[in-house]
Amino acid sequence: MNLDIERVLISQHQIARRVKELADQIVKDHSPPAMGIDAEITIVPILTGALVFCSDLIRQIPLHMQIGMLTVSSYPGTSIRTQGSQVISKQFGDLTGRHVLVLDDILDSGGTIRAVVPVLKEAGAASVKTCVLLRKDLPTARQTQADYVGFDIPDEFVVGYGLDFNNYYRNVPDIVTLKSHVITKSP
Ligand code: IMP
Ligand code: MG
Repeated sequence: MNLDIERVLISQHQIARRVKELADQIVKDHSPPAMGIDAEITIVPILTGALVFCSDLIRQIPLHMQIGMLTVSSYPGTSIRTQGSQVISKQFGDLTGRHVLVLDDILDSGGTIRAVVPVLKEAGAASVKTCVLLRKDLPTARQTQADYVGFDIPDEFVVGYGLDFNNYYRNVPDIVTLKSHVITKSP
């Protein structure tokens, strides 16, 4: 696996520091007086990519919270460009009156966030905020709602810390690029 890595873009130590900063900001924004005393949040990671980010982030947020889940597919198989976002499954119960924070690994075309925010509002969420670990330097990404952004990165295909290529490399602890021969046969 490590032989396929071209370079480390963001190290696990940089990620850990930034995740703590994001968590501190989220706690501040979801505590009184910013929010009502009984305001409750539901964190909704978009699976599979946001799995690792979510597990690290929620353990830095000491608020009463529930976890929901949404599975969305946009980069099926060996694609390295979005093929359109499809909500594959929803497991978030009743969101009536709850403040939802959607988590995604990366904001690229913005299709995923644009697809999931209305789904959560239709489920009764009182508010929907979005948090992405990475945002690519693309006009479509910058035009998409992102209330919390971990890192702005160049428009490159990256894997690690939950992000995959053909469902591999999610367990790489850093955000990395892959050698070109690994991804060249992709659409
Ligand atoms: P968007 O819908 O185009 O904004 O893309 C968001 C989704 O595409 C993310 O949740 C990822 O699953 C996937 N994605 C986008 N860029 C990359 C990348 O560079 N590497 C791996 N997956 C990516
Ligand atoms: Mg994803």
